[in-house]
Amino acid sequence: MTLLELTDVTASYGPVQVLEGVSLSVPDGGAVGILGANGAGKTTTLRAISGVVRTGGGIVFDGQSIRGLRPDQVAARGIAHVPEGRGTLPNLTVRENLLVGAYLRKDRRAIAGDIDYLLDLFPNLHERIGSNASALSGGEQQMLAVGRAVMARPRLLLLDEPSLGLAPSTAKNVYDAIRRLRLESGIAMLVVEQNANLAFGIVDTATVLETGRSVLTGTSAELRGRDEIRRAYLGG
Ligand SMILES: Nc1ncnc2c1ncn2[C@@H]1O[C@H](COP(=O)(O)OP(=O)(O)OP(=O)(O)O)[C@@H](O)[C@H]1O
Ligand SMILES: [Mg+2]
Repeated sequence: MTLLELTDVTASYGPVQVLEGVSLSVPDGGAVGILGANGAGKTTTLRAISGVVRTGGGIVFDGQSIRGLRPDQVAARGIAHVPEGRGTLPNLTVRENLLVGAYLRKDRRAIAGDIDYLLDLFPNLHERIGSNASALSGGEQQMLAVGRAVMARPRLLLLDEPSLGLAPSTAKNVYDAIRRLRLESGIAMLVVEQNANLAFGIVDTATVLETGRSVLTGTSAELRGRDEIRRAYLGG
């Protein structure tokens, strides 16, 4: 079953249209990548889904149009967005940041269980549970941002360049945890990533964006095999 379907989505910042026609679909429980050069519109595609930019075209989630909904309404439908730059709350502790992610929930016992699960998934956070987010390393902040999003018990996670600015070994740790989360939780994922080697480790299919349009979609294996993808996104 298709969980999220974008059909010829357009988006503008004020008078400037930056998405010209993005189409992609995420199956329930599936993981889909978005590849593309700087400025191609990857972040804007996630913002269009989250309702923070003005959009046209079709955005259907779980069988219902969500285009034009406010960000809080989109979140309440079960979509959690981990933005570029992470957006953790610097003056709150790791635990408090995780609890912020669960603010719509009332099931205290399940919330505590989810925190335990996330601290097992991200052992670095376990050690820093009482520290302010501002004191965390970049990798730890990324883990916290993912953890906070998962605390909402979403059906779909939007991840914007989880590896950005991280050392290769740290980026690999983050991706290993996301892979495990995917297997254990069944949460569907839409992952923006410039490092296609990392993305192909967790996604089933990916869509390539060029100047605001989706130009190519394929399975990870198909895309890995294409010369232009290897040259542009796989370092040779
Ligand atoms: N707030 C904004 N106001 C006006 N134009 C914007 C704004 N944010 C992004 N843009 C423009 O929209 C286009 C797409 O930007 P977007 O951030 O979606 O690209 P991206 O693929 O995520 O790039 P990157 O890989 O650098 O993160 C770019 O030309 C960018 O300059
Ligand atoms: Mg971006």
